[in-house]
Amino acid sequence: LEKGIGVSNAKIILIGEHAAVYGKPAIVVPLTAVKLTAVTTAIEQGQLIESTYYTGPLERSIKSFAGIRKLIQTILARLNQRQANFKMTITSEIPAERGMGSSAATAIAVIRSLYSFFGQKINRAMLLELANVAEKITHGDPSGMDAATTSATAPIWFVKGQASYNLPINLDGNLVIADSGIRGQTGPAVATVRERMADFPQETAVFMDQLAELATSTRNAIASQQLAQVGQNFTSAQLILQTLGVSNQTIDHLVFVAQRNGSLGTKLTGGGRGGCIIALTADQANTDRLLAALRAEGVTQTWIQPLAHLNQL
Ligand code: MEV
Repeated sequence: LEKGIGVSNAKIILIGEHAAVYGKPAIVVPLTAVKLTAVTTAIEQGQLIESTYYTGPLERSIKSFAGIRKLIQTILARLNQRQANFKMTITSEIPAERGMGSSAATAIAVIRSLYSFFGQKINRAMLLELANVAEKITHGDPSGMDAATTSATAPIWFVKGQASYNLPINLDGNLVIADSGIRGQTGPAVATVRERMADFPQETAVFMDQLAELATSTRNAIASQQLAQVGQNFTSAQLILQTLGVSNQTIDHLVFVAQRNGSLGTKLTGGGRGGCIIALTADQANTDRLLAALRAEGVTQTWIQPLAHLNQL
């Protein structure tokens, strides 16, 4: 086969980041309009990578590409294709290190691209297991949530180690996503929470239980179309995440500004310590007001996702 194309998309965690690492539920939505594509083509000699993170021979790739390199080598070994010659081109609309799942999305697209290139089928369980090979190297102790969502096309209720299932969202209003312009630091943030769990196990477990309750409450509020309750849960989750040490001053400030400018609820999303915030708005007027306020604070990029258009099964 001459060409193998693999596609994945950005993801946004509505609620449940960090708690997901400890087996608590999370609600995660794919942003199917924000895509990542890997294209593998046959070449005469070598194994070449072409991407914004790294361009050059696979075996000489840089440290930040180590997870994807290990993943590609694992796939080649499994498919008995260690000596195959190919070039893989990765193009992404997902900003890196913003909590939007770019690393998992890269893994998913790379797997799909290589399996397609070699004319092999892959089931969902194997897709997620392989993505974890890269995510373990990139993020240390991943829950698998990013891989599950960047490969999905509808919102999911995620619990680590369990089969996730679709969670239809039929709400009016908008999910507004704003990039703080600061790199998120999922690895260090997950490590901070792990240390906290070791030092203050009981207190930290209570925070995890509270985040789990907020996820359940949010699921119920989605089912009963209570947008304002979903927003309040966002703000409650942000306070807990802040206490856990995974927010930072810039995020706290953007949350503060959003809350005064039309947001029904605002929180960080993803690993934290930077990355994006998410906010909920009821209508276009509040969305416009919020976007203007956030842009005045210097956010680098914004996305508006109508909640009614999340279910693209
Ligand atoms: C990162 O997007 C989400 C975290 O919960 C880590 C994980 O679930 O692997 C912080």
